[in-house]
Parts: sequence; structure tokens; C-alpha cells
Amino acid sequence: MLKIGVLASGRGSNFQAIINAVKTGYLKARVEVLITDNSAAYAIKRADDNGIAGLVMRPADYASPDTYYEAVADELVKRGVGLVVLAGFMRVVRKPLIDLFPMSIMNIHPALLPSFPGLHAQRQAISYGVKISGCTVHFVDEGMDTGPVIIQAAVPVYCDDTEESLSERILEYEHRIFPYAIRLFAEGRLEVKGRVVRIQGQVKDKDVVVNPPLAKGD
Ligand code: GRF
Repeated sequence: MLKIGVLASGRGSNFQAIINAVKTGYLKARVEVLITDNSAAYAIKRADDNGIAGLVMRPADYASPDTYYEAVADELVKRGVGLVVLAGFMRVVRKPLIDLFPMSIMNIHPALLPSFPGLHAQRQAISYGVKISGCTVHFVDEGMDTGPVIIQAAVPVYCDDTEESLSERILEYEHRIFPYAIRLFAEGRLEVKGRVVRIQGQVKDKDVVVNPPLAKGD
């Protein structure tokens, strides 16, 4: 069975969505370990509550970013992790980790990439004035939110949206598409060619989630 290692820096609601998906049997995988760079992360409590090993590993305690990621990679390899999931991990991961998990690290980003990479994606979307935003699950490469896209969900942006209201609308879809993308990986259905991810046996309207669908007659 696929073993998952989760990296998270904060609240961990996506981590929780993954835990729940495993619990219900939707996701046939095991969350082996949580690694956090923040000793105050609420994600640690979620790990504790669910019997998942939680490790605090802070970059400040290592000689360089590369040695930090070597140590993180060691922990994941030691536990037989086959997929690394960045669930609100607020750092750009580096080569020592990426090289050991080629096309086996996933990230969730709260915008429709390649629009609005980096921090505060929802704020960026509102300031830019886009009418549709959403979230993206992608494989991680060395860039900032630049790796191959696996699945996206789109949500409307309304004129009276705030960063908070848009974030909340997007988050609901994050919690749906992240476990789904992991499930596709666990089932061996993701094939990466260059920067294009093909989903074997793609189900239209499920593998790309658009909300709200147009009503008939619109
Ligand atoms: C999410 O919006 C995710 O897209 C972004 O960071 C946030 C993490 O939220 N990368 P949570 O910690 O999973 O609740």
C-alpha cells in the first residue's frame, strides 16, 4: 500500500482531508508521517489525534537549506514513503528532496496555475480582477508552483469577495481535489510526459472540476 509523507506548516485542513479520505477507505493509502517546519502548527495535533508520527524539523537547525532537505528526505525514505504531499508547506522545496522523489511530490496551490503563483494567491486574484479562480494540484519541480498540473477546480470570484471569502470558497474544492489526485497517483493512473500529466481512464467533469456548472439554457 502507498505510504504518504505529509509536509505542512500550519492549520493542516488539507492534511485533515487526506486523513479523512484514508479513514473512509476512499484513499487506499497510509499516512506514514507528518513533518512540519513550525512547532506551533495545528497540523501536529491532527497527527497526534490520528496516531500519525509527527516530526518538527526546522530549517534554522540545519547548516543550509540543502542539508535541511537532505534530512527531511532521509526521514521520508527511512519510512518507505512513496508520495510526498505538501499540504500548506510554506517553503520552496529543493533539489535534495526533489531528486529522491521524482514526480512523486504533490502540492496544492489556491489559484489556477500558472496564474498567481507564490504567496497570497487569493489576494493576487482579487487584486487582478479575475472572475474565475480556483485551485491546482501539481507535481513539484524546483520552481515556485511551476510543476506539471494534475487537476484543477474552478470557482467564481464575486465583486464583493474578500481574500477570506474567496479563500473559503476555494478551500472547499482543495479538500476535494487533493485526496482525489492522491488517489489517482495511488492507483497508478498518472502518466507524466514532459510537463503534461495524462490521467488514465479520465472521467470528464470529474478530473476537471468546474463550479458552478452552467445551467441548461444559459
Ligand atoms: C491552502 O490554501 C493551500 O492551498 C496553500 O496553503 C493553504 C494551507 O491550508 N498551499 P491548510 O493548512 O491545509 O488548512
